[in-house]
Amino acid sequence: MIYLDHHATTPCDQRVVDAMLPWLTQSFGNPHSTSHSAGRVAADVVARSAACVARHLGCPAESILWTSGATESNNLAIRGICGHPRQKRRHLITCFTEHHAVLDVVAEIEQNGWRVTRVPAYPQDHELAGCVDLDALAGAIDEDTALVSVMWANNEIGTISPMQQIAHLCHQAGALLHSDATQAVGRLPVDMKSVDVDLLSASAHKFYGPKGIGILVVGNGNRRVRLRPQIVGGGQQRNLRSGTLAPASIVALTTALEIAVSEMSESDARIRQLRKVFCGKLLECIEGLVLNGISLESPQRLAGNLNVRLPDVEGESWMAAAPDVCFSSGSACSSVDANPSHVLTGIGLTESEARRSVRFGIGKFTTDEEITQAVRLLCDAYRRIKPA
Ligand SMILES: Cc1ncc(COP(=O)(O)O)c(C=O)c1O
Repeated sequence: MIYLDHHATTPCDQRVVDAMLPWLTQSFGNPHSTSHSAGRVAADVVARSAACVARHLGCPAESILWTSGATESNNLAIRGICGHPRQKRRHLITCFTEHHAVLDVVAEIEQNGWRVTRVPAYPQDHELAGCVDLDALAGAIDEDTALVSVMWANNEIGTISPMQQIAHLCHQAGALLHSDATQAVGRLPVDMKSVDVDLLSASAHKFYGPKGIGILVVGNGNRRVRLRPQIVGGGQQRNLRSGTLAPASIVALTTALEIAVSEMSESDARIRQLRKVFCGKLLECIEGLVLNGISLESPQRLAGNLNVRLPDVEGESWMAAAPDVCFSSGSACSSVDANPSHVLTGIGLTESEARRSVRFGIGKFTTDEEITQAVRLLCDAYRRIKPA
């Protein structure tokens, strides 16, 4: 099995597993039972973890909320802002190419009577293809806009958004900015001191941590951010997200982030080089193969991301013909959805083009040998299924 789907998830780094295990078996205290030492030890590691994550993201430690992952973080950010009893504004903005964990929440808010603007994304031939159209965004924001939700990096075509420019547009009008940074954190420098977003979602399993743990950063110290909680019960995390915290998972996310940050530039360069070789070889053996999204040379594209479309065969058929290579036709997070990718049609591809497209995600443990093998398996599979 050759795993080339690192936007869907990443393997848990052994160093992360080693760091988290003692917090399951030895120091297993409940971090909310601070009346005894076992609880205090757990509470202390949670506090140190928040400080460490906050240092890496450039936000106050008090702003870190632990969640189950980015879906929950996105839900809490958007519903939390729109549902707060003191929220006076009634307008919400997002972009067509967001993840469903944003789009579906926005649709629900709309049903509850909010005005929603879905701003178009730049088309395929634009240097920021897939990213929210900044002029359209500027035109959509008004004094009733409570929140703008724009992803930091796209999970299908890897475009990196100019977040500081977007933040400036939002804050000029007094709107808050949420960013789904699930594909960015651990892969790119994400510094909330220089990029002034108000709420930020991330998930450990995208940067070699375990599944089931994420964060929502609520406020970076510059503006007041008021959330209505979505999960109530024990009053934990300042009553913004109740439930017993999981120190082992929190240590795992923190360790994964520390490793990702310290190895970022080295792994980025290696992944870029692997992708160049991989794409070059696929182009050699598949006539008419086309790159979706912006140039691979662009710094505005995530290093490991490759999204291509075949001239004459559906992506699903290619995947079925090459079962030993794990890749995806569209976003794996929405692969329960049989519709063509909304991101690809959102940048102007036809439904047929979108159905002929696949996404690869190269990771930091991917080897040269795996790339060579994958090219062979994929090219053989394509030759077998292409129309005569
Ligand atoms: C951009 C983006 N947002 C949200 C999610 C959902 O993340 P999680 O699996 O942590 O709920 C994903 C998962 O692929 C994603 O890529």
